[in-house]
Order: sequence, then C-alpha cells, then structure tokens
Amino acid sequence: TLFKKTSKTIGLIVPDISNPFFPELVRAIEDVMNIYDYTVILCNSDEKSEKEKQYMDVLKQKYVDGMILTTNQLAIEEVMELDIPIVVLDRPSDHSFPSVIADNYHGARLATRHLYGIGCRKIAHIQGPAHVVNAMQRFYGYRDEMKSLGLWEEALIIQGNYQLRQAKEAVLQALQTNQVDGIFAGNDAMAVGALKAVQQLGLRVPEDVAIIGYDGIPLTEMTTPELSTISQPIYEMGAIAARLLVKKIEGQFIEQLHYVLPVTLIERESTNRRG
Ligand code: RIB
Repeated sequence: TLFKKTSKTIGLIVPDISNPFFPELVRAIEDVMNIYDYTVILCNSDEKSEKEKQYMDVLKQKYVDGMILTTNQLAIEEVMELDIPIVVLDRPSDHSFPSVIADNYHGARLATRHLYGIGCRKIAHIQGPAHVVNAMQRFYGYRDEMKSLGLWEEALIIQGNYQLRQAKEAVLQALQTNQVDGIFAGNDAMAVGALKAVQQLGLRVPEDVAIIGYDGIPLTEMTTPELSTISQPIYEMGAIAARLLVKKIEGQFIEQLHYVLPVTLIERESTNRRG
C-alpha cells in the first residue's frame, strides 16, 4: 500500500520575527493550526532567498504537511518542485498558490490622501525593500495618489528596509537637505524611526511634520505622540491563511483561493493638526 508520511506539522517562513507585525500574524496561525492539531515550525528568512530555499528543503525533510510563506522571493519552479501544499501570505506572488494579502495599493493611497487632507504638501515616502512586492505596491499607491493630487513634483522617496533603526538614520539624512511637512512610512517600525529622527532634529510632530505609518501594530499607541497608521487585519490574515492551508492539506474544496483584505485609516495624534 502507498503510504504518505505526515507529521501534523506545518512550516511557516517569515522574513523577520523581530518586526512586531509578525508576532501577531504567527499567533493567529498557531491558534488556528492548534485547533486542527497541527504544530507550527517557525523560520526567519531575513529577506534572503537562499535562506528561504534552505529552510524549505529542511522543512520538507521533516515531512511538514504544508507551508505558509510570507516571504516569497523564490522562483515558481523552485516552489513547485517541493510538491507540498503552500499558502502565500501578506506578500503577493504572481503564481497560483492560495493567497491572503491586504490591499497595499489602496492603503498607501489612503495614507497619502490623509496627509494631504490635513494640509501637507511636501509628502515624503519611506519605502520598504525594493524586492518586496508589498513595499512596491505601497510605493505605487503613494506615487499615483501624489500624481492625482498634483504633488508628484514635490515627492521625496527615502529608501528604507522595513526596520526601525535604518529608517531613523535614513530620515535624519534626508532631512539635512530636504524640507518635508508629511511622511508616509511604508510600515509602522519605520514610522517610529521617522518620529525619533524628526524629534531629534527639533521639529514638532504633527505641527511641522505629520507622520503616518502602516500595519497597525500596538507599538504605534505607545509613542509620543501616538502614531496614525493604516491598519491591516493582521490576525485575520493569519487565521484565513491557516484555514486555507488546512483545507489544502486535507484535500477539501476551497471556495475562495485568493483574498485581498481591506485596510483602514487610524487617525491619531501624529496627524492631528486640529490642535
Ligand atoms: O512591517 C513589515 C511589513 O512586512 C508589513 O507591513 C507586512 O505587510 C510585511 O510584509
């Protein structure tokens, strides 16, 4: 008889668990997987495709029943070769695996328009890593909104890598030679870095420079001033992805393969100019 080895474990590859977006996502996945008696093995790829590939091979050797990928730097052939149920989460891909993402493009337009709405005219964007698809989608959202507001000439792109410290340094440097009155950071960690940099330069938030982040992590409520952000349904994203994977593993019918979940604007002190 044919025997397919199963382990009741799944692999989860995230880029960087020290980014506070991911603990909440991982929590949701684990909660749902536990309901179905699966254990989750967590791996950090550090945004590197070699590391992601290595982990996928190791996970396969451990007979995981499926994988959730939030990194997705790999070529489709490499992933297909594995012949294991896969769900793509948070970072979209152009292949046909079931996927759960949030509406990055729309969220970025929302953030940019919000800064415009409170009077900002020189709006900078701190962009996430250029090889990460959701970072680019957020950049396109910013660009298109700036164009439609007639502000694209005034645009300033600050290169970030989704990490707090690097963003702080990048903003300190950019503001040596540029004047801005609004900053849209591609994630919340970078918004915290930007806040620190702006304050260090003796500027007031939101009066001189308004700041909005992206993700909706709890840290944004702990800063002074509290940070406005575009909130992603992080827990829900993880939970839906986990349920999709269980269905795939167990060969059940999947009525919806691709999810693009809505995001919402959360207005806090860092963009409140009403005084
Ligand atoms: O915080 C980092 C970003 O990486 C998040 O916005 C999330 O979308 C993830 O891809």
